[in-house]
Amino acid sequence: MQDLVLSGIQPTNIVHIGNYIGALKQWVEIQHRHRCLFCVVDLHAITVPQDPKMLRENSLRMAATYLAVGIDPKRSHIFIQSEVPQHTELSWILETIAKISELERMTQYKDKAKKRGENVGVGLFTYPVLMAADILLYDTTAVPVGEDQMQHLEFTRVLARRFNETFGETFIVPQPLIQKVGARIMGLDDPHIKMSKSASSVLNYIALTDDADLIIKKLSKAVTDSDGKIVYDVKNKPAISNLLTIYHHATGKTLPEIEAEFSGKRYGDFKKSVAEALIFMLSPIQEKITLYQQDPGQLQKILDAGRTFALDAAEKKMNIVRERVGLGRS
Ligand code: AMP
Ligand code: TRP
Repeated sequence: MQDLVLSGIQPTNIVHIGNYIGALKQWVEIQHRHRCLFCVVDLHAITVPQDPKMLRENSLRMAATYLAVGIDPKRSHIFIQSEVPQHTELSWILETIAKISELERMTQYKDKAKKRGENVGVGLFTYPVLMAADILLYDTTAVPVGEDQMQHLEFTRVLARRFNETFGETFIVPQPLIQKVGARIMGLDDPHIKMSKSASSVLNYIALTDDADLIIKKLSKAVTDSDGKIVYDVKNKPAISNLLTIYHHATGKTLPEIEAEFSGKRYGDFKKSVAEALIFMLSPIQEKITLYQQDPGQLQKILDAGRTFALDAAEKKMNIVRERVGLGRS
């Protein structure tokens, strides 16, 4: 069995360095070793209200972002989830074996539902089943994501096993791929909550598209810990440890190297260096996002090819699934 890696990000307005460090950066490295499918999960995005015109724009910008960070369309397939209807078909079938109690335990659902009060759509509840369908449809062996998706992946594994036990061996049980350092980038304004697109303050995150001045400003306002030392200690110094993690990913230097570099220095100096490293890391990405957006023809071709590949693979798998479940005529 050949390895296949699949992952996806919702097309929302901003992509932050948590998404980059936790997910995208891993994808770029993995594609040299594995066959990869990267999807823009627009059907997941509509589990909360979206402006239709903006959603399409965001889907294209997300595809451009995949390319800009270094996903190579010669190695990897990039496609838009809703263009492959088999995802929703499989999702429905998996919903019939998923349990309400399992979905009720999902922390992402509970968090989002808490924020939305009465206004919780059924799609927000069944979201993890669609994610399982995305993954299982392609015989995915590994899924590179940030730590916050671990629970959804565990659930995907449960559904795969349950389907196999009920209908016979059909799905591969996929493995999570999670970074050792950086799987959970925390908010710059509060190191106890994860960096998030839906944060109430823009000081929470650095977007991939933030310009140099904004990055410097956000870093200067980032909270720090109290003892003045620049050492990695997640438990006692969550804010500085988060900045060390970000600096580690932006420069490639190891955590001990960074601690040595800033031994005896002040938080202010360190924050300036983190800002500079981020500007250096993000400016080529920003240039490429603009280039891909200025050449929509190329982007469309890449997405067409991705769709063709995904449709073919998905339909082959669904033929097996329909037969196992007894749907339609043979
Ligand atoms: P989302 O923003 O929920 O669409 O997440 C897209 C990808 O980024 C998923 O693989 C997440 O696990 C990952 N991710 C989101 N937020 C963070 C974060 N703060 N730190 C690390 N990874 C993250
Ligand atoms: N739920 C994921 C997130 O919020 C996005 C996602 C949807 C995904 N389908 C996927 C990630 C399949 C990996 C594989 O980040």
